[in-house]
Amino acid sequence: MKKILAFAGSNHSKSIHHELIEFTSTLINDVEIQVLDIRSWDIPIYSIDMDNDPVQTPELISKLIQLIGEHDGFIIASPEHNGGTPAFLKNILDWLSRRSKKVFNNKPLFLMSTSPGAKGGANHLNFLIHTLPYQGAEVAAHFSLPSFYDHLKDGIMTEEHLEKLQKNIEEFTNKLKE
Ligand SMILES: Cc1cc2nc3c(=O)[nH]c(=O)nc-3n(C[C@H](O)[C@H](O)[C@H](O)COP(=O)(O)O)c2cc1C
Repeated sequence: MKKILAFAGSNHSKSIHHELIEFTSTLINDVEIQVLDIRSWDIPIYSIDMDNDPVQTPELISKLIQLIGEHDGFIIASPEHNGGTPAFLKNILDWLSRRSKKVFNNKPLFLMSTSPGAKGGANHLNFLIHTLPYQGAEVAAHFSLPSFYDHLKDGIMTEEHLEKLQKNIEEFTNKLKE
């Protein structure tokens, strides 16, 4: 059975992206899915000085690289901070890029975003769609949920968005089987 690794690029204890990942994982069948909770991961800010000393690779980065290597596809849900990548996720992506140039190894990636606002973090999602291929990701599908608190409540997503999400999940899981 194919294996998916899913995580949210947020260290918010009440992360809506983590909630979106948890919800999405309930819609995926016939695939083994590991939802990784990285909210409490304390990773030092990337620096070239630390980078030059392999001994200083954060243990959690080595762990993440190993997990990525063991999976066939990925789901990442990322918040948008001031129109860009949140420092928490950017730090992880920078570390990954320095320890494994094409860490996602041309495997399919499903990118998601949401936000309490009407744009659902779509601007930043577009940025990730164009930049994560530099790290070896094959962006197979993407989904943005606007106005999170209006559209995902008590484990129920409003019809229109649920249909879109299911279509994107299908596109992503089809790529896994190729
Ligand atoms: C520093 C900061 C900047 C933010 N900038 C944006 C933004 O540019 N666009 C947006 O839609 N929401 C923005 N937000 C609101 C986030 O979408 C909101 O905090 C959301 O809960 C983040 O997802 P999370 O709970 O999974 O961390 C910002 C929040 C913070 C704390």
